Amino acid sequence: MATAPELLDPVPDALIRPMAESDLADVVIIERAAYQFPWSEGIFRDCLRVGYICRVVMLNDEIIGYGVMSVGAGEAHILNLCIMELYRCRGVGKRLLTYLIERGTAAGMSEAFLEVRPSNTSAIRLYQSVGFEQVGMRRGYYQAVGGREDAAVLKLGLRPRRGSR
Ligand SMILES: CC(C)(COP(=O)(O)OP(=O)(O)OC[C@H]1O[C@@H](n2cnc3c(N)ncnc32)[C@H](O)[C@@H]1OP(=O)(O)O)[C@@H](O)C(=O)NCCC(=O)NCCS
Repeated sequence: MATAPELLDPVPDALIRPMAESDLADVVIIERAAYQFPWSEGIFRDCLRVGYICRVVMLNDEIIGYGVMSVGAGEAHILNLCIMELYRCRGVGKRLLTYLIERGTAAGMSEAFLEVRPSNTSAIRLYQSVGFEQVGMRRGYYQAVGGREDAAVLKLGLRPRRGSR
């Protein structure tokens, strides 16, 4: 179990806006620094093209994080959530995750799902902090150095907002 990280200064001025194709060069730089097996620019482009909910977090004029989520058939799937290393442990990831959950709820989805490497304790801690719970394990789901790594499947029930169905 990860211990709570030291709380750094929050980033109150960060804003969330839709991702555009012109953001992809910057997004991919953050992606490559964050993951051993990063998404290609083409994967992000496909996500934009099919209409997934793709957002970037802006601080002044700089992209400091992004998230990608699909919605359909009652389910939201958080496919990517990433914050630039310099800005981690400052509440930005939680803000973006909360935003995506609200979008999924507003789109009428009843559940949100995501996959995470069991070794990714900071991400698991973030997801648990908003109520996600593990509901399964996909064996050998991820590429890993020297083989494959399982994925934990996490789920969150989404409560319809009052006045929406
Ligand atoms: C996972 C990630 C998105 C978290 O973003 P973040 O901005 O650092 O997270 P926050 O500062 O908003 O923290 C949110 C919660 O997670 C916990 N947390 C975040 N990083 C942590 C760490 N390194 N160790 C322990 N807990 C951590 C915080 O304690 C906080 O919990 P609280 O609100 O109950 O206090 C970020 O570490 C990241 O981009 N990692 C690389 C990409 C990645 O692995 N994405 C997830 C793929 S499934």
